[in-house]
Amino acid sequence: MFLSIKNLHVNYESLEVLKGVSLDIEKGDINVLLGANGSGKSTMFKAISGILRPAKGEIFFQDTKINKLQAHAIVKKGIAQAPEGKRLFIDMTVEENLEMGAYLRTDKREIEADREDIMDRFPVLRKKLKVISGNLSGGEQQMLVIARSLMSKPQLLLLDEPAQGLSPVLVDEVADIITGINQSGITIILIEHNLRLGLGLAHWVFVLESGVIATKAKGTDMSEVEYAKKIYLGG
Ligand SMILES: Nc1ncnc2c1ncn2[C@@H]1O[C@H](COP(=O)(O)OP(=O)(O)OP(=O)(O)O)[C@@H](O)[C@H]1O
Ligand SMILES: [Mg+2]
Repeated sequence: MFLSIKNLHVNYESLEVLKGVSLDIEKGDINVLLGANGSGKSTMFKAISGILRPAKGEIFFQDTKINKLQAHAIVKKGIAQAPEGKRLFIDMTVEENLEMGAYLRTDKREIEADREDIMDRFPVLRKKLKVISGNLSGGEQQMLVIARSLMSKPQLLLLDEPAQGLSPVLVDEVADIITGINQSGITIILIEHNLRLGLGLAHWVFVLESGVIATKAKGTDMSEVEYAKKIYLGG
């Protein structure tokens, strides 16, 4: 299995957020993670990325146990996270933010080439390489978060609400970008409240509810997706 999560428990002091999440992700798919606000989706990403230590359970990436590794070691194994809410180095330029995304890599020439490829996906950023990130528009900052996460050359990309607050036109652009990233061979887990975007892209849909994965549905099976939606929307 590409990514396998087994009986994951994560707490914030006395608050139990994840209460035994188990999940298998296959290589190559776009997996959409749904769940109400506060259900623990971002917490799950943080546990996969090694930013949070699970209280219990295991995470395997390509058959290697990663849940005891440090965050940077997990990036090196090939997992990158584009976090929620435009987390950038806002005093740095676009170019410098992209460099930060590659900070664990030493293959200078390849980094350059990858940056060129990534800029092809984000033409708006190419024109702004020297601009201080804090001066970018909200939409451009969202794009830069995704672009930066690609600079570590991930095999698995965790996207936490990449379309949050974007205009409909930009949401469509982000959808195309995600499709393109996936077609280049990168497996994706996407947290998305925008159902049209999320379900439009999903090969698999997972619903996080009451601290566990309550539903897993194939993205192409509309009856299952309708079921997932119903659970998600509580109707
Ligand atoms: N650092 C923290 N300390 C204490 N509680 C936290 C912390 N981070 C998150 N929580 C709590 O854990 C729960 C899950 O939060 P999380 O951010 O994972 O939810 P989410 O599913 O990503 O929600 P949203 O859709 O609103 O982004 C929430 O009740 C939140 O208040
Ligand atoms: Mg969240």
